[in-house]
Amino acid sequence: MTDHIQARDKTIKKWIHDIGQVIIKEKDSYLEVEQKTAANDLVTNMDKWVEKELVERIRTAYSKDRILGEEGFGDSVKNMEGTVWLLDPIDGTLNFVLQNENFALMLAIYEEGIPVQSYIYNVTTNELYAAIKDGGVTCNGQPVEIPANRCLNEGLLATNSSIMTKDKYDGIRKIARKSLGLRLVGSAGLETIEVAKGSIVAYIATNLKPWDIAPGILFMKELGLKATQFDNEPVDLMKNNNIIFAVPKAHKEIMDLIHE
Ligand code: IPD
Ligand code: CA
Ligand code: CA
Repeated sequence: MTDHIQARDKTIKKWIHDIGQVIIKEKDSYLEVEQKTAANDLVTNMDKWVEKELVERIRTAYSKDRILGEEGFGDSVKNMEGTVWLLDPIDGTLNFVLQNENFALMLAIYEEGIPVQSYIYNVTTNELYAAIKDGGVTCNGQPVEIPANRCLNEGLLATNSSIMTKDKYDGIRKIARKSLGLRLVGSAGLETIEVAKGSIVAYIATNLKPWDIAPGILFMKELGLKATQFDNEPVDLMKNNNIIFAVPKAHKEIMDLIHE
């Protein structure tokens, strides 16, 4: 790990813990909830506060870097030149509002388009997953082992609501039938962690935004797992993507099923 990444890792972990404590303290208080594009696309005062807080800290400590944040407090980022931070202040806002759990704070850093640091923080369980380029994956500082390379019929599959409702991608049934069962958590970040831990063999989801998938790419890379679009192309962070995060055997089977 280079010195600048090591120093930045320490800083980010402190920021995430500071902000996480505020979320935990405030999460049962009155929430201002607004609809964005639809009744199931929400933003709360907490999403906005978390993103503003992170943007302010990044601007103070790393003034030359650019920020792409879900709630729009960062910059207008049109390419991945230089150092770019991608922020999802609360991934799983519907869960945050309706379940009071199963949401994550997510952050990823890319240098000249290369993922170098990724963080997914399960706020209510206080589990901070970090992936560092060439440094592996950790959970609260403890190494996460490479998960077993299993086939679909040896594991669980996760997907998102969009694939079942809006996008009506029928192929998901064919893929799900090969697996031992289908799961939907409702947080792309937490589902990414499930793949990294080996609790599911694949996460297949449509219409994910750059900040939903940016951290997952490095998690998959560091563990020798796959992160691609449905056509097997690399994920493109300048647009929405249909993605597959998976162990290699399950990924190959999903590719074959998509293209048969
Ligand atoms: C959403 C969640 C959800 C996924 C959606 C995302 P948000 O993020 O990750 O699981 O299916 O596509 O937009 O809006 O709660 O940050
Ligand atoms: Ca999200
Ligand atoms: Ca969000």
